[in-house]
Amino acid sequence: MSAIVPPNALADVPRTPAGLLSNREKDRLIERAFLGLYRWYTARSQETRNWNPDQGFNWRQLRHDLPPEIIRTITGFFAVEQYAPDYTAELVNMVRRSHGRSHFQLRWGSEEEKHADAWENAVLFSRQRTPEWIAAYKERLRAQQWHLPFPDAVHNLVYTVFQERATQLNYLNLMKLAQGRSDKVLGAVDPVLASVAQTIAVDEAAHYNFFLEGARLYLYYYPARTLEAIKNVIGQFSMPASSLVPDWDEFSTTVYKAGIYGPRDFNRDVMQVAFRNLGIESRKRLEEGIKATRLVPTFGGEEQQQTAIWDTFDYGAVEGDVRRLHVKIQDYERGIGFDAVDPFEFVENPEAPKKQVQAADD
Ligand SMILES: [Fe+2]
Ligand SMILES: [Fe+2]
Repeated sequence: MSAIVPPNALADVPRTPAGLLSNREKDRLIERAFLGLYRWYTARSQETRNWNPDQGFNWRQLRHDLPPEIIRTITGFFAVEQYAPDYTAELVNMVRRSHGRSHFQLRWGSEEEKHADAWENAVLFSRQRTPEWIAAYKERLRAQQWHLPFPDAVHNLVYTVFQERATQLNYLNLMKLAQGRSDKVLGAVDPVLASVAQTIAVDEAAHYNFFLEGARLYLYYYPARTLEAIKNVIGQFSMPASSLVPDWDEFSTTVYKAGIYGPRDFNRDVMQVAFRNLGIESRKRLEEGIKATRLVPTFGGEEQQQTAIWDTFDYGAVEGDVRRLHVKIQDYERGIGFDAVDPFEFVENPEAPKKQVQAADD
């Protein structure tokens, strides 16, 4: 599977071939869906999440006596987010041949950059770190460069699904502390901090959804490779830049003790949530399913042999989600008039076993 098809290879591919879809056709379908999803996403982002990290919050009102755990937490959030240019550069470069995915990564980067600036403002206006301290810390962070955790596009896409959900969860749990809905850290109540955490968490939820939709497209058209990627990613998951941030251990102990994020949160509120959204019952079921497919003899190329893979996940649910994504994009494109010039259609993956459908009058 080539992850991305060059644009000049798209025009001569038939729209509805008989029999199985070629990899080229699958890639064309995925690329077209990404393009529609990216455009839908951009419109929505501009309409509903067009906030500014300086003007969007009443920074003067941020408390000056926030507890040290909170300062360590927001400093760690800042450290992770301030690698936004590295994340964006690496991801854009990896998917540069895909219009939908590369343009999306630019938009995504522009949102992550706001998160970095908002967290930096929070550290600064807490009055517990001087501008000189922040400048020196930033210099130390930027002396290191972030690189992609995996060599290929599908693994990185899947990684981003879990990472965005984990990030969202971190911010939601900090928000709870700042709203007084968690008593794990005393004296953490602060409406400005709560608003910052909530605003960024909403962006992270949007990111999670974009990458989730993308992962579902791959799961539907390339189930074997995508499930393998999911298994590999959860087997070695860590937060981005965890090896680059100098005081990471102190940070992760702090967020763990503060009830913001830890291994249990990852299992319950990241992995299980993403699994449910991807039609995967459990990690055990995923690993057993992949093992079972390896026992099936292969004759006709790796995309054709894996009938057993369809039992590993709820492909009916995934197909339903992919269909709904298509309807969402179709509605958006109809509003612009794209449907008249470049109609977007759902194409079934003929490899998926057919479920028995009862006639309506039975
Ligand atoms: Fe972010
Ligand atoms: Fe994000």
